[in-house]
Amino acid sequence: SIEKKIDVLLKKMTLKEKIGQMNQLSADDMETNYKVIQQGMAGSVLSITNPEIANKAQKIAVEQTRLGIPLIIGRDVIHGFKTIFPIPLGQAASFNPDLVENAARIAAIEASETGIRWTFAPMIDIARDPRWGRIAESCGEDPYLTSVMGVAMVKGFQGKNLSDPTSIAACAKHFAGYGAAEGGRDYNTTNITERQFRNTYLVPFEEAVKKADLATIMTAFNANDGIPSSGNEFLLKQMLRKEWNFKGFVVSDWASITEMVDHGFCTDNKEAAQKAINAGVDMEMVSGTYVAFVESLLKEKKINIETINDAVRNILRIKFKLGLFENPYVKGNTEAVFYKKEHLETAQKTAEESVVLLKNEAQILPLKNPKTIAVFGPLADAPHDQLGTWVFDGDKNHSVTPLQALKDQYGKNIKILYEPILKYSRDKDSTEFYKARKIAKEADVVLLFVGEESILSGEAHSLSNLNLQGVQSQLLATLAKTKTPIITVVLAGRPLTIEKEVKGSNAVLYAWHPGTMGGPALVNLLFGKANPSAKLPITFPKNVGQIPMYYSHLKTGRPANGSELNVENIPIEASQTSLGNKSYYLDSGNEPLFAFGFGLSYTTFEYGKTTLAKSVLKQDETIEISFSLKNTGNYDGAEVVQLYMRDIAGSIALPVKELKAFKRVELKAGESKNVKVDLKISDLVFYGIDMKKKVEAGKFDLWVGSSSVTGEKVSFEVQ
Ligand code: IFM
Repeated sequence: SIEKKIDVLLKKMTLKEKIGQMNQLSADDMETNYKVIQQGMAGSVLSITNPEIANKAQKIAVEQTRLGIPLIIGRDVIHGFKTIFPIPLGQAASFNPDLVENAARIAAIEASETGIRWTFAPMIDIARDPRWGRIAESCGEDPYLTSVMGVAMVKGFQGKNLSDPTSIAACAKHFAGYGAAEGGRDYNTTNITERQFRNTYLVPFEEAVKKADLATIMTAFNANDGIPSSGNEFLLKQMLRKEWNFKGFVVSDWASITEMVDHGFCTDNKEAAQKAINAGVDMEMVSGTYVAFVESLLKEKKINIETINDAVRNILRIKFKLGLFENPYVKGNTEAVFYKKEHLETAQKTAEESVVLLKNEAQILPLKNPKTIAVFGPLADAPHDQLGTWVFDGDKNHSVTPLQALKDQYGKNIKILYEPILKYSRDKDSTEFYKARKIAKEADVVLLFVGEESILSGEAHSLSNLNLQGVQSQLLATLAKTKTPIITVVLAGRPLTIEKEVKGSNAVLYAWHPGTMGGPALVNLLFGKANPSAKLPITFPKNVGQIPMYYSHLKTGRPANGSELNVENIPIEASQTSLGNKSYYLDSGNEPLFAFGFGLSYTTFEYGKTTLAKSVLKQDETIEISFSLKNTGNYDGAEVVQLYMRDIAGSIALPVKELKAFKRVELKAGESKNVKVDLKISDLVFYGIDMKKKVEAGKFDLWVGSSSVTGEKVSFEVQ
């Protein structure tokens, strides 16, 4: 068995060789790395992407070191390797885990051909602050949706069996709470309580460990309640190892061990190594303190050899599981694998299912035989910027932009008038607005592609203002004067505060950064060859001041109800004084611009009455929920049916609503189906006042609907 093989190998290893396994190098300087590998002082290299270099490094590890232990080569393969899929936030909007699993599978197939057998994905941080640039890389605000998507991604990366040469070990990150950075400013402090960790932030990690046999986990950059993640024993020992029985290995984030000195949590790098090792960080990413200090820390008895043995065991276990000992080399047949037709087709389908239709006034979409189309905006033809953040390997020359796709598919029959007017989203001025108006007047419809370039989201790209950058809004306002209908397509890595622009457009498609095949996907949606079905994986606030804004908030003792939620319904006198002592904003109310789970289709769906098979249930039972769903419009389409729950009263205050299940239902125009959703009562568990995970008996409300703010309420009781 693998455990026996590890025992045998571990017995043969010198202390230095053990420390070497715990050390990860970056690929910046391979000439130096080759020497370090030869000395047995590296267990992993990060970011080799050339199969020849990968094979050369492996050959040194396997043939020129005493024990021949292969390297594990890692890389950030976040939403595709060569074929780029929508950013993870966009993928989450599909509410389609099968599609998301397939996207990760394809990413693994392409990446593994170069020798990469480990990705630093998925990022399953709960992210509720769109100012945080890394929200693009997350699955949004909800623990349940993030869990489902995280599990799908891990399964896709890791394949059926890790030993398959196309499987790559997944790395769930960042452990933990990184998404809750104060003010949405990257790397900032978090203050998450143990109960919030258990009930919200850790849920997707636990699911990935338990349901997808997750191979590795990365610690986070943030200090929570004063404890940096790479030194957090509660997270790494108590939760990960003791409670979840995690058998993979833990890697630090880039220099997050030495940054514990910057946090003021350690006096020097030696103490940082000590704290990280004792907390349970098995492998150190690039900062080299394990190599520098483990021997002396052992002599000084500040760490013990059992901890080192455990770390090495965890690392070797994954190397054995990956089959690296039998199969360290790669064929490198990249030509045959990169950008394969079926990869591009899946990328296109994923993009089609991730674009959210936010507005469609008078059913202007899909377009009905326009003769002339005017195309404007900095993102209509931006091959690099439609790819999104964390794209190191995807080649923009393979991107098909919306403009290109429009010309390819309709250029012969439709007159396409294209002028970007703005080169970049951040352009502060333009002398060409007159030209835009002139062209728009000649057209039957305007397609305006606005938003933000890839560089505006991602790591270390936080923003304090989420309005459209530069003069994009003014461009829209200018075009609106022409009376030609405007379809606004937003490409962005996060929710933007676009209330004004939504009002000023006849239709709005939110495309995130849709990836290599974003263009054809958008054109198919615009012309009705595909029907939008995506739903928002995150609440869209009206303005930055409403943040944090997420649907599953706690109740407060003075909630604002009903019409009070919407500022437009607040009488002027009240908004100038107060609406009674209620929890709301005088100037923007409590309603978001768009709610979690919202998304339109070209067709309409009618939900029948929700029926529960039983209204009083025991803890080991399953609620059987059924209702009819009818496609009442003129187009075939898919509806993402969502099931929300409220636990009316518990030993602690609980959220107003929580997503507990969802299902994608395809319906032809006019078709209706009886839909059944089963929910185990055991899925209603949470950590209550005694910090024990259980279902508490009592009354519950349940809603089945098309978003977090729709659906008829039904009630049941758990005994
Ligand atoms: O995987 C990333 C992480 O998310 C941020 N710091 C660097 C790592 C490796 O590139």
